Amino acid sequence: MRLLVVGGGGREHAIIKKLKENPEVTEIFALPGNGGIAADAECVDIGAKDIDKIVDFAVDNKIDFAVVAPDDPLVLGCVDRLEEKGVPVFGPTKAAARIEGSKAFSKDLMKKHGIPTADYRIFDDPDDALDHLKTCKYPTVVKADGLALGKGVVIAENREEAEKAVRAAMIDRVFGDSGKEIVIEEFLSGPEVSVLAFTDGVHIAPMVSSMDHKRALDGDKGLNTGGMGTIAPNPYYTPEVAKRCMDEIFLPTLKAMREEGSPFKGCLYFGLMITAEGPKVIEYNCRFGDPETQVVLPLLKTDLLTVMKACREGTLDKIEVEFSRESACCVIVASEGYPVSYKKGYEIKVGDLDPDARIFYAGASIKDGKTVTSGGRVLGVTCTATDLKTAIDRAYSQVEKVSFENAYYRKDIGKRALAAN
Ligand code: AMP
Ligand code: GLY
Repeated sequence: MRLLVVGGGGREHAIIKKLKENPEVTEIFALPGNGGIAADAECVDIGAKDIDKIVDFAVDNKIDFAVVAPDDPLVLGCVDRLEEKGVPVFGPTKAAARIEGSKAFSKDLMKKHGIPTADYRIFDDPDDALDHLKTCKYPTVVKADGLALGKGVVIAENREEAEKAVRAAMIDRVFGDSGKEIVIEEFLSGPEVSVLAFTDGVHIAPMVSSMDHKRALDGDKGLNTGGMGTIAPNPYYTPEVAKRCMDEIFLPTLKAMREEGSPFKGCLYFGLMITAEGPKVIEYNCRFGDPETQVVLPLLKTDLLTVMKACREGTLDKIEVEFSRESACCVIVASEGYPVSYKKGYEIKVGDLDPDARIFYAGASIKDGKTVTSGGRVLGVTCTATDLKTAIDRAYSQVEKVSFENAYYRKDIGKRALAAN
């Protein structure tokens, strides 16, 4: 079978490595992939947002099955366009991808269907938003409506900070059209849990839970990033919490999407906060999370391609989706200065890793036959073990074998999770 994976980060590398475990897979094309993925797939220089070229490539190369992983092509309708041409795809349609593409859509969906989330108001006029800030409670949360590379959320401690965030999004348009509308919502507190779930629109198979570490620096300090590391399973996701999530959030969300006329098929990501009142949705993503995927997929025991096909065909209830009971830890090695400004082009050297340690490449390219850094998040190192402490220790022992000139990584991935155990 000839597969195509759209995207080029650590998440896509983890997906590709897992898909390769199926012996029927003969060839995988990554569009655009990256210099590290090139060891596992044929990388083709077509950007993940270039939908016309992606569709032409899939048709010309007789692709048997495609996976669209990043948010941008999903929100742009890449799945619809490929399916129209007869290419079977894992991923939500453009209409279903609105669950991530528009926060106003997802907040209204939750309100209408009684799914627990933070109280909120939506604004399309900056004056109305600024007026609201005079009376709302602080801290408050200001969110750009559309996609903003994970940077569209500001937790404002006071009115001044909130006004700055509203002006930046709505007047200065620092996120472009994504800030035409904004959501201002109640600040929630509690531990955060990421749950990625396979779904065929009706049935759902939640994957092992995980915990992201979004801030750049140790102790959850510094700027928000795309994620500096993950662990799985998340100790705050107890069986009781999982049951409430299934009954109050997961199944109601699938039903809501069907009732809106846009059933969700693919990987639905629930960003949850376990508040004193119970689990609430912080955000939905219409895709696998990154770096969550880098700890979750190594623990998947069932063949990934089989699961993906069942999601597309509406037969997820006919298969067993099994996860290992082990723990996993992924440490992201980034370029010093990420997420603001950083130098790239440094050679990445990897020593002798333990045989079961995994490296998933993100910001890497090949230059003069060498693998060099080409982005902020350069790669992730994942190790698994029977318990979380050992998985963390092993991941850090392997990270030490990776080097490039301005390498930077957090030293405390998993610390909070261990304290919760
Ligand atoms: P997002 O980009 O939507 O994942 O938001 C980034 C981060 O902001 C989340 O992981 C939370 O830590 C935080 N956040 C978002 N919404 C809220 C909220 N209503 N209350 C508290 N924290 C929030
Ligand atoms: N790790 C968060 C995300 O993928 O959005």
